Amino acid sequence: MTPQTIKSVEFEKPNLTDPDAAAGGSCVAHAWAKVPPALTPDERQALKSRIRKLLKERNAVLVAHYYVDADLQDLAEETGGCVSDSLEMARFGRDHDAKTLVVAGVRFMGETAKILSPEKTILMPDLDATCSLDLGCPADDFSAFCDAHPDRTVVVYANTSAAVKARADWMVTSSIGLKIVEHLHARGEKILWAPDKHLGSYIQQQTGADMLLWQGSCLVHDEFKGIELDLLRREHPKAKILVHPESPANVVAQADVVGSTSQLIAAAQQLDANEFIVATDNGILHKMRMAAPGKMFIEAPTAGNSATCKSCAHCPWMAMNALTNLAEVLETGRNEIHVDADIGRRAVTCINRMLDFAAQQKANVRPAADLAKESALFSGVGPA
Ligand code: 13P
Ligand code: SF4
Repeated sequence: MTPQTIKSVEFEKPNLTDPDAAAGGSCVAHAWAKVPPALTPDERQALKSRIRKLLKERNAVLVAHYYVDADLQDLAEETGGCVSDSLEMARFGRDHDAKTLVVAGVRFMGETAKILSPEKTILMPDLDATCSLDLGCPADDFSAFCDAHPDRTVVVYANTSAAVKARADWMVTSSIGLKIVEHLHARGEKILWAPDKHLGSYIQQQTGADMLLWQGSCLVHDEFKGIELDLLRREHPKAKILVHPESPANVVAQADVVGSTSQLIAAAQQLDANEFIVATDNGILHKMRMAAPGKMFIEAPTAGNSATCKSCAHCPWMAMNALTNLAEVLETGRNEIHVDADIGRRAVTCINRMLDFAAQQKANVRPAADLAKESALFSGVGPA
C-alpha cells in the first residue's frame, strides 16, 4: 500500500478559554489534511472510466462542490449528478431519487445530505475532509454561548456540525444568508450568528441587524489581503472583482460582486468584462473558465512580500477528494456518513426553514440575468 502523505494545517479559531471569547478574540489552532497521490494521465483516464461504471452499477449520483478536483466536477456533470454551491448541493441531493449519494466536498455537506435524506446512503471520498469553520465551533461551547443569550435567534452557517445545527433556529448558506437575516431583522429579531465572523459582519453591515458574532473563520478566505488586492487592481484597471463573503472586510469592500460560489460564476458569465480578479478558492476557476470561455481570471493575492500563505487559495480538505478514493468508496461502500437520529431530527428543522424560505423567494441558483438585478446582494459594495 502507498504511504499516505499528511500535511499540517494552521488556522484561526475563537479563544474558547475566555468565557467571552466566542464573541471576542481568537487564537491559532492546528489540524491536518491528507494529500492525495499524484496520478499519470493514463491512471486518471482509467479511474474515470471505472467511476462512471460504478456509479451506474450502484445507482449512485455524484454531488460535488466547485472547490474539488476538476476531474470530479466533470464526472459529476457528465453522469447526471451536479456541481454547485452548498445550497444547491443540499437541494439536489434531497430531490434526487437515487438511493446512494456520493458527496464530494467536506464533511458538513455529507451530513446535511444525510439529515435531509436519512433513508439514503451517503458516501464521501474521505470522511476526514473537514472545515476550519466547523472545527472552530465545537457544539458544547456553542451551546453554552446560545444559553448565555436566550433572547437571540440562532442563525448558523451551513459550515457547521450536525450537533451545532441541532441547536440553531435557522441554517443559511452564503447564497441566501443576507436575505434571511434581512427577513429576521424586519421582524425585529436580534441574531446570534456563527461561526464565520467575516460573513457575519458583511451581513450585519448590509442589513443593519443586531448580530452577535462567533469569531470563526475560513482558512482559505481569511488569507486574502486587502492592500495587495488594491495593488493588483491598479495593474488591471478594467478587471471586475469577484469576492466570496467569507473574505475579510477590506477585501469585500473592493468587490464589484459579493456572492456564493454559484453567484460568482454567474457574475463572471454575465458581466460585461473580460478580466476578473477572483477572491475565493481557486478550485472555482475550472468552472468559471468553462462558463465564460475567452475571459481572463486572476487569483486574488493571499500573501504579501513578507508573508507565506497557509492555504494558498485552495482548501486542504476539499483537496482530499480524489479519483482514487472516489473509486474506492464506490467499490467498497466504505465511508458512509451517519448522523445520530435525535440530532438529525433536531437539525432538520433549521435546514428546512432555509430551503422553504429559498423556495418562496425563488432564491435558487438564479439565471445570470436575474443575478444582475439582485442589487441587495451587491449594494454598498464596489471598488473604493
Ligand atoms: P458556497 O455555499 O458559496 O459554495 O460556499 C461553501 C464554502 O465552503 C465556501 O468556502
Ligand atoms: Fe471550510 Fe473554507 Fe474549506 Fe470552505 S474553503 S470548506 S469554508 S475551510
